Amino acid sequence: MIKISIFGASGYAGGEILRILLSHPKVVIEQVTSRQFAGQPVSQMHPNLRKKTDLVFSHPDELKKCSLLFIALPNGESMKYMPKLRTLAKKIIDLGADYRLHKQTTFESWYKQKHVNPGMLKDFVYGVVELHRLEIKRSSFVAGPGCEATVSILSLYPLVKHNLIEEKIIIDAKMSSSQAGLKPSASSHHPERAGVVRSYMPSGHRHTAEIIQELSAYAKGLDVAISATAIDMVRGLLVTIHTIPKKGVTEKEVWKAYRTEYANEPFIRIVKERQGLYRFPEPKILQGTNYCDIGFEMDTISKRLVIIGAIDNLVKGTAGQAVQAMNLMCGFPEEMGLEFPGLHPI
Ligand SMILES: NC(=O)c1ccc[n+]([C@@H]2O[C@H](COP(=O)([O-])OP(=O)(O)OC[C@H]3O[C@@H](n4cnc5c(N)ncnc54)[C@H](OP(=O)(O)O)[C@@H]3O)[C@@H](O)[C@H]2O)c1
Repeated sequence: MIKISIFGASGYAGGEILRILLSHPKVVIEQVTSRQFAGQPVSQMHPNLRKKTDLVFSHPDELKKCSLLFIALPNGESMKYMPKLRTLAKKIIDLGADYRLHKQTTFESWYKQKHVNPGMLKDFVYGVVELHRLEIKRSSFVAGPGCEATVSILSLYPLVKHNLIEEKIIIDAKMSSSQAGLKPSASSHHPERAGVVRSYMPSGHRHTAEIIQELSAYAKGLDVAISATAIDMVRGLLVTIHTIPKKGVTEKEVWKAYRTEYANEPFIRIVKERQGLYRFPEPKILQGTNYCDIGFEMDTISKRLVIIGAIDNLVKGTAGQAVQAMNLMCGFPEEMGLEFPGLHPI
């Protein structure tokens, strides 16, 4: 058994870690923090956990030593606390963006702020398990990837590694409202958010940097662009990725690349059916699961290879992926606590 704590547990990502770990057979949850709700039961913020736990939120100043600490703070916050936090926990998984990018200058140019703890950037392993399994196993510090980055990297990695596509990659992402976190804003106000198909970020999405960082290990000169659209969905993320296949690449080779890399991956499924309603990946049936579903189609007319990837942003896109990493870091079976198959109909 290991003792874990969650820093930032009143938010959506922290709450999801809590939900998953309350059913994990090898974990005891010591402390969960919130400044605003310190002293109140966690069910106040996470009503789905009523009768599952009697835990009460602690103030972050009361954090005690634990075996592994999850940090689920807004981007740019964990680096301020990190020097103290590393004295409290030998193992840390940070879900924010502060330690995802290896280079300080890359972080500062995409996030428009100074990194206040650059000395620890080299200590963190980027937490896409399928690409960094061995490093994560040996590491004490893992940076949880962004959700758009997770689904995009997983969708593209076999194609880039097997040299099947040209450098230009265009990612069209459909985003849900929970990606914005708990804090309300004018754009999350119900009359403004409900029913939208809002072009939220046609260019300049920060996760571009993570995707380039990770895929550049397999190909040089990648030219990646993301266009993000907010749609009327609470949980879930769908990417439609437009690529140009290298000359002569066949559908059979694409299948082979995905099978070679993912046949033994517990949480990746290739979804490409000839018939039925769910012929391609669909976030709706992934809610609460740690799966990343990936499909593709060769467009012989426009000479594109279109890839479709779907995840639950709060599970495979953050908390589930982090628990998968925790399992590796602690020597537990990788799928432990993440077995939920999803619901249908939903
Ligand atoms: N939401 C997603 O789909 C998603 C996907 C991938 C990655 N992530 C990453 O996960 C992290 C958390 O995201 P979220 O959506 O869960 O955010 P959130 O819902 O806004 O939750 C943030 C949490 O941090 C606490 N907090 C905020 N500012 C703090 C500060 N300065 N000091 C101490 N505690 C603070 C909040 O509680 P109090 O204010 O009460 O202390 C709350 O518990 C982000 O870095 C994000 O990049 C999120």
